[in-house]
Amino acid sequence: MTRLLHRTIGQPYPIAASAKGFIIRDHDGNAYIDASGGAAVSCLGHGHPDVVAAMHRQIDTLDYAHTGFFSSQVAEDLADHLVAHAPPGMSHVYLVSGGSEAVETALKLARQYFIEIGQPQRRHFIARRQSYHGNTLGALAVGGNAWRREPFSPLLIPTHHVSPCYEYRDRRADETAEEYGARLAQELSDRIDELGPDNVIAFIAETVVGATAGAVPPVPGYFRHVRDICSRHGILLILDEVMSGMGRTGTLHACAQDGVTPDLMTIAKGLGGGFAPIGGVLVAEKVFDAFAKGSKTFQHGHTYLAHPLSCAAALAVQQVIQRDRLLDNVVSMGAHLKKRLSERFGNHHHVGDIRGRGLFMGIEFVADRSTKEPFDPARKINIRVKQEAMARGVLIYPMGGTIDGRRGDHVLLAPPFTVDATTIDTIVERLGDAVDAAIAA
Ligand SMILES: Cc1ncc(COP(=O)(O)O)c(C=O)c1O
Repeated sequence: MTRLLHRTIGQPYPIAASAKGFIIRDHDGNAYIDASGGAAVSCLGHGHPDVVAAMHRQIDTLDYAHTGFFSSQVAEDLADHLVAHAPPGMSHVYLVSGGSEAVETALKLARQYFIEIGQPQRRHFIARRQSYHGNTLGALAVGGNAWRREPFSPLLIPTHHVSPCYEYRDRRADETAEEYGARLAQELSDRIDELGPDNVIAFIAETVVGATAGAVPPVPGYFRHVRDICSRHGILLILDEVMSGMGRTGTLHACAQDGVTPDLMTIAKGLGGGFAPIGGVLVAEKVFDAFAKGSKTFQHGHTYLAHPLSCAAALAVQQVIQRDRLLDNVVSMGAHLKKRLSERFGNHHHVGDIRGRGLFMGIEFVADRSTKEPFDPARKINIRVKQEAMARGVLIYPMGGTIDGRRGDHVLLAPPFTVDATTIDTIVERLGDAVDAAIAA
């Protein structure tokens, strides 16, 4: 009997025994191709020797020193690296242990920024429906997934949600992608006017929506409008790139492809590639300056801020990505993955949309392709696809509630940046069989 409180009680989980490269093996000797890196985490696959060696060196030298007493060289080096490659205007980074902590930090940085600059009346966050920003209470409050929020709703800080940028379902037939993006921007602008522009702290959005919507990229121009609106009203733009950032979409930061720079940007999963827990918030110089010229103290902190082992892992991961020019591979293998998915699923009766950027792809399933009617949620198609794929030795990341938190099914693919064409072909072939088996069952 297990003494772990698992995600689902009573469900048997195979014991992961070892992992190397693209493959995770369980205790019974089954091998799985890790085609989603868990939840878009393992950007270098598993057991990368350079990362493992850097972590060994670190643990042999300095395991832990509390950030209230010391900084560490490895945290300083990681910060230098991250800021040197950050979007223009970002000058500092705050290092935490994961994505939710990064989002909580960004929310508090944003609120305190306005206290520092003498605008303490600002108190509203605006976010988007169907977004995911984490499971701690602040992150859950800004998150827009109705199902995840519902049980905890009495505990959540009030937030305001506008429409997601979800072209497949929400762009009208009589508008172009650009017009659709402009319409959404107008909705944001109207909401800001309703709340009073001087009362709003920030707008937070995932650059490419990951877990809860299935790799949904913004339409062209959308984030430029959003950036303009925020700047015009002195509202901060927080981009959550916990899942879509750090190279996953083919550029180090997903927002580079949208031509915008946020004021705060959260990063996590691909930062440390799963070798150790780490997340961070990249901070624009103007935000940092407000603190530096103001109270000089960010009223926040955790025991494991900038943990040396996590920093060593993240620095090694980022150096390998740069040294081996892996973002070039993300672009070329991303194109191959898209092509193979289109060949296999482009005319599939039950695939409504194939979308994403780089090695970050989502497939949305439908009961009826012409009407876009989703499957009955009771059929749990996304879970079945996961199970059928696992039975065929492939790991993909499933989610239901794609449309409104309840209806809709999708799966995410996020293979390592080192993936090759043969492995992609195997993933797509096995996934194809898994989808057919799941839907036929
Ligand atoms: C965009 C985004 N933000 C925040 C989080 C929360 O990160 P974590 O699970 O590391 O707390 C996630 C996790 O999936 C995410 O995708």
